[in-house]
Amino acid sequence: MKIKAFGIKEKGGKAEPFYYERNVGANEVRVKIIYCAIARGDVQFISDDWGDTKFPLVPGHEIVGIVEETGANVAGLKVGDRVGIGYQQEACFDCEFCKAGNEQFCTQQKVIGVHCYGGLAEYIVVDNRFAFKLPPALHQVGSVPLLSSGLTVYSGIMKAQLPANSVVGVLGAGGLGHLAIQFLNKMGHQVYAFSHSPEKKEMINQLGAEFVLTSNPNNLTAINKKFDFIISTLNVPYDLEGFLKILKPQGKFCIVATPLEKQPINLGLLYDYAQRTIYGNYVGSRRNMIDMLDFAAKHNIESAVDVMPFSQVNEAIEKVRIGKGGIRLVLEN
Ligand SMILES: NC(=O)c1ccc[n+]([C@@H]2O[C@H](COP(=O)([O-])OP(=O)(O)OC[C@H]3O[C@@H](n4cnc5c(N)ncnc54)[C@H](OP(=O)(O)O)[C@@H]3O)[C@@H](O)[C@H]2O)c1
Ligand SMILES: [Zn+2]
Repeated sequence: MKIKAFGIKEKGGKAEPFYYERNVGANEVRVKIIYCAIARGDVQFISDDWGDTKFPLVPGHEIVGIVEETGANVAGLKVGDRVGIGYQQEACFDCEFCKAGNEQFCTQQKVIGVHCYGGLAEYIVVDNRFAFKLPPALHQVGSVPLLSSGLTVYSGIMKAQLPANSVVGVLGAGGLGHLAIQFLNKMGHQVYAFSHSPEKKEMINQLGAEFVLTSNPNNLTAINKKFDFIISTLNVPYDLEGFLKILKPQGKFCIVATPLEKQPINLGLLYDYAQRTIYGNYVGSRRNMIDMLDFAAKHNIESAVDVMPFSQVNEAIEKVRIGKGGIRLVLEN
């Protein structure tokens, strides 16, 4: 069938009506898109920040919609199901990573923006194993950002295997960060949110975290606490060494975003009087997605969202680009 979407022809270009042909394969479902977020990553795809954007680009990798058609082999989903779809669209289900349940590392994987068209569209066709039933308790629009931002921070946090009541930090209270704060809080940790935005203090406190203003570097040490875990969602340069210094021995630093510029680091900080770990986290597995959605439903975790109609797609992209799109901007079809 012909799918109506918004496509971007070239680096930095505007979204324009764009049509492409896509049939529903035996393992696939066709989903009518209700909501699609415009995340920081979508804007970075449009400006080809990482050099792997495939144009024409149909951005959008946090999607909620309704199944309208199922392929012959699809058993777990039926027409009318409410599903969420994230960044990854396909995996081989046969390689060592897929067999170990880590489909996000599959060498044959397909992801939006690089291999396939995304959610700024009327429909999306996706492997049914990457369309996830939304638990009924999840509010429709507030759950949209869980599908990539939520998955990424949740799986990064789970990897740390933190004991309850750990002292934890979140760098940046944006789309990913404000969900990380909520997950960590509901997991029973003492959460500090490091932010350069004084106006976010009230929201951060309401989400259950202490607010630390990063514009004054003395504030980092003034807390006088040592951290078990810190997760960075910052895509701008920051004082990485300053944060490593406030990690306890055996503390863990999880990176889910990074600036395009290289970050200088004294590697001695990883071992001097300590054994600190820095690790990255790339989205998450299907298991992580299912667990994350269940956890979010159980603990009423959802994203703050500003909603705009799909017809205002270019205004919405511009708002996100200049940082005026609220915590997360979601388009409604
Ligand atoms: N690892 C993965 O698999 C994965 C998955 C999804 C997204 N990502 C990446 O995660 C990154 C963040 O995404 P997001 O949607 O959370 O972005 P976002 O909503 O823009 O949040 C980033 C936060 O960084 C802080 N910040 C922004 N500009 C700053 C500046 N000039 N100085 C200091 N702090 C600044 C802000 O927090 P404060 O106002 O609180 O300071 C901002 O809210 C993106 O680069 C995205 O590509 C990675
Ligand atoms: Zn594989």
